[in-house]
Amino acid sequence: MILDAPHFNCQTATMKDSDLYSNPVSVNEAVEQLNNASVVALPTETVYGLAGLANSDDAVFKIFETKGRPRFNPLIVHCANLQIARSIAQFDALAEQVADAFWPGPLTLVLLKTANAELSDLVTAGLDSVAIRLPKHPIAREILSQLSSPVAAPSANPSGKLSPTTALHVIDGFDGRVPVVDGGHCDAGIESTILAIIDGQITMLRPGTITKKMVENAVGQPVGDPQDEKIVAPGMLKSHYAPNASVRLAATSLKSGEALLAFGPVAESLQTDGAVTLNLSVAGDLAEAAKNLFQFLRQLDAQNPTAIAVMPIPNEGIGIAINDRLERAAADRTS
Ligand code: TXA
Ligand code: MG
Repeated sequence: MILDAPHFNCQTATMKDSDLYSNPVSVNEAVEQLNNASVVALPTETVYGLAGLANSDDAVFKIFETKGRPRFNPLIVHCANLQIARSIAQFDALAEQVADAFWPGPLTLVLLKTANAELSDLVTAGLDSVAIRLPKHPIAREILSQLSSPVAAPSANPSGKLSPTTALHVIDGFDGRVPVVDGGHCDAGIESTILAIIDGQITMLRPGTITKKMVENAVGQPVGDPQDEKIVAPGMLKSHYAPNASVRLAATSLKSGEALLAFGPVAESLQTDGAVTLNLSVAGDLAEAAKNLFQFLRQLDAQNPTAIAVMPIPNEGIGIAINDRLERAAADRTS
């Protein structure tokens, strides 16, 4: 199934045979490896996650090492069910309402940690809050149901790079050194929406396919933007999700050597003759565009363009999350 993914770049990776896992691995092999405090990449409905047992210092340390992730950036804890989530985080009535509306699904809640949460301290990077999620993907759920601890799982990419939406992206990103369970192409294609629910207030820390409007409709109260530095997700660094090529946003013309990431009908004035072009959604469907976003950025990047020019994406609904990721991909990388 994974070999038909187009433009995959594995051959260029330098790897020693002894480093390679026989990818992909089965659900049972994944459970075994996780129980040995190893890391395994798993599919979720958003992106692939690099999982390790959340109660194991060794496993969580390996996640940070494998990704090259700064230790101050806490991880999301993935739980098999709500009962386990409640043992880790404090759910007030509002959090219960949001969980009931959107779990299992592509939503992460940042809540205060419980006093006796069985988590490695590395997971929360010293914060008194914890990020948790109940994924919907059947493979992730099957693996979680077989483990005695939830798993911590950031996106399964080297820190600062594009999130993986296929098993091959994971193999490519870590040069085959991480075992992966193949669940095909992730449905949502971008990372989960993150909401902090603290003191009866809901704040959206990261936009995703579950939009502000959807949450407001479900709970009947406004969802704010982060004002207070303290509750901004520490991982929301300005430059993130970066391909190798620079990214030029809101392109209405194309410069020589640029590749085009299109959306909807392409205006003739763009003069795409000869330029490598991929269209996120010819029909202008934002959910389809989100699903294709990281895969298409990778494919265009593999052509070594002078830059990736991106057509404007409507800043509404899921388009807000797409623009968030694109702005980070385009951000100044020296800052
Ligand atoms: O869709 C997803 O959320 C994927 C899949 C694998 O679940 N995971 C993911 O994890 O995107 P990661 O580590 O790439 O992004 C998690 C974000 C980071 O920006 C981190 O700073 C933030 O969540 N975060 C984690 N714990 C937090 C906390 N206690 N307070 C605020 N932000 C937190
Ligand atoms: Mg990430």
